[in-house]
Amino acid sequence: MKILLTGGTGYIGAHTVVELQQSGFEVVIADNLSNSFADVLDAIEFITHIRPVFEQMDLTFADQTKTLFQRHRDIVGVIHFAAFKAVGESTQLPLKYYHNNLFSLVNLLNSMKEFGINKLVFSSSCTVYGQPDSLPVDENAPLQKALSPYGTTKQIAEQIIWDTIQTSNLNAVSLRYFNPIGAHESARIGELPIGVPNCLVPYITQTAIGKRPYLNIFGNDYNTPDGTCIRDYIHVVDLAKAHLSALSLMLDKNNAKNYEVFNLGTGHGYSVLEVVNSFERVSGVKLNYKIADRRPGDVEQIWASTSLANKILGWKAEKNLDDMMLSAWNWEKKLAEKIN
Ligand code: WQD
Repeated sequence: MKILLTGGTGYIGAHTVVELQQSGFEVVIADNLSNSFADVLDAIEFITHIRPVFEQMDLTFADQTKTLFQRHRDIVGVIHFAAFKAVGESTQLPLKYYHNNLFSLVNLLNSMKEFGINKLVFSSSCTVYGQPDSLPVDENAPLQKALSPYGTTKQIAEQIIWDTIQTSNLNAVSLRYFNPIGAHESARIGELPIGVPNCLVPYITQTAIGKRPYLNIFGNDYNTPDGTCIRDYIHVVDLAKAHLSALSLMLDKNNAKNYEVFNLGTGHGYSVLEVVNSFERVSGVKLNYKIADRRPGDVEQIWASTSLANKILGWKAEKNLDDMMLSAWNWEKKLAEKIN
């Protein structure tokens, strides 16, 4: 069966391609390479010995989106990753985020309807919760006002999908990612931010490898045990596997409702300093960091209730923080080998 992955050359997309191919699915990747590199296709082929079909295109153009579906009429489902995702950057460039993240979704849904494809897995985010009133946060929690335009695009996107389902035969699963980190065990694919990393873990590994002089820890005066923000970090391979479970739920017609939402986290929160300590423990590298001002848009603390995904998807994250940090470090070292 052929599955379309939009944004499939990106960090989470590439890891999901590997899991899908290794489970026997045929994969088509559609990506505009605005935030990723085509050589990830070589890496995927190295891991799975199958080169995914790649269509370079931009979903914000309706004509390009239609052409994509005309060329692949045997698609049975779509996993929609394509979006900008840096919380911090979105507070500086809101219109870039609203245009890219929402126009691409609307065009995608229009083409799916036109070509009779009615199974969608959507890459959503824990940022839809804003700062939850209680933790762990479950899928029925009220969606507070998102603290960043990025989070708002994910809230609006979920609403667009819900409204589309009311007027069509679309089936969808929204996966609310917590903080995906780490890399495939082969160290051939991993997080590869273009320019200065927005996210914590690539900044840590780039500091440790000597690409950055030090890590700025954005605030240690939060109302948390060690003063730094808490997040539910999840290994990107665990996350990728959940997409397979979500897709299968719909393909096997086991989805009780036309729209299902699942948190994808480990159920455990770690502070920035705990992540730094884990990195130092697994790498043996002492990390150079400074305490800096808080970053606008940051939620103080959030971690997931994962019981719904455990029960309905039969999925549970398996890797722990040290596994995640070691895999991120191995990836950074492999990148350095390629350059030197
Ligand atoms: C984590 C913590 C920062 C960088 C991410 C994704 C977003 C969404 C949710 C999927 C925060 C601190 C960071 C640095 C730091 N995922 N930090 N110094 O903001 O939780 O959002 O997960 O949809 O797409 O971006 O992740 O890694 O940017 O920040 O102190 O140099 O690390 O303040 O507390 P965030 P992050």
